[in-house]
Amino acid sequence: MKQISTTAEMHAVRRSLSGTVGLAPTMGYLHAGHVALVTRARAENEHVIATIFVNPTQFGPNEDLTAYPRDFPRDFALLAEAGCDIVFTPSPDAIYPPGFQTYVTVEEVAQPLEGARRPGHFRGVATVVAKLFNLTRPTRAYFGQKDAQQVRVIQTMALDLNFDLEIVVCPTVREPDGLAMSSRNAYLTPEQRRAAPALYRALTVGQEAWNHGERDPERLRGRMAEVLAAEPLALVEYISAADARTLAELHESASGNVLLSLAVRIGRTRLIDNLVL
Ligand code: PAF
Repeated sequence: MKQISTTAEMHAVRRSLSGTVGLAPTMGYLHAGHVALVTRARAENEHVIATIFVNPTQFGPNEDLTAYPRDFPRDFALLAEAGCDIVFTPSPDAIYPPGFQTYVTVEEVAQPLEGARRPGHFRGVATVVAKLFNLTRPTRAYFGQKDAQQVRVIQTMALDLNFDLEIVVCPTVREPDGLAMSSRNAYLTPEQRRAAPALYRALTVGQEAWNHGERDPERLRGRMAEVLAAEPLALVEYISAADARTLAELHESASGNVLLSLAVRIGRTRLIDNLVL
């Protein structure tokens, strides 16, 4: 596996590749969810590029940019094992050199849910992903369903800005007790870790209600709220039943695909999860 850290070398190496390229963008501290993206990219493309970049522009001033866990040696071993050919690990200055002033703003789908709680987050995500697309020119780019709104933002950006690539959405990878894999799970104490599967339990209860014919979004949110209320360590930020395409919160009886999503604080760790109905 080749490691590249400058944009000039990334451009040069990309120019030398012919055939299909799969891209798995990450912020490192990899887990089985990331490995699944790389494994799928390996199966579907001639070349596989992964990126590791803890993107400062998608963190708010009071978020965990400096604390974000990092472990390059372990990440490289996991990537190589999953069949990655090239890992791009730029420095913040390589991505945002002095004088940088161009950002990508996606409008409606970036506004509710995470967008409302994390101002500027999706502007940072869309900007860095657009840059990574330009640097690696992938045939297919792989993202996890765990970050459902991020997926919608990137799909919208790719369509609106005419990126000539396919966005491949991979299923959320879960621990045996249902907790969605996330690099931030590393922050949880053992007691908090035991409380964390409440998110998936709540989503599952919402899904079961839906499967039994419940179509009232208020009642779907209510069922999920009951489950979370029973977990004393869970502090709810939002519980949503939204249109899965527009992400607009539903108030009338739901008909098309519905995105059930949650953001919950457990101690100082903010966890998100979702299911599509
Ligand atoms: O999902 C992530 O890890 C990040 O938001 C991404 C897509 C790599 C952009 O920094």
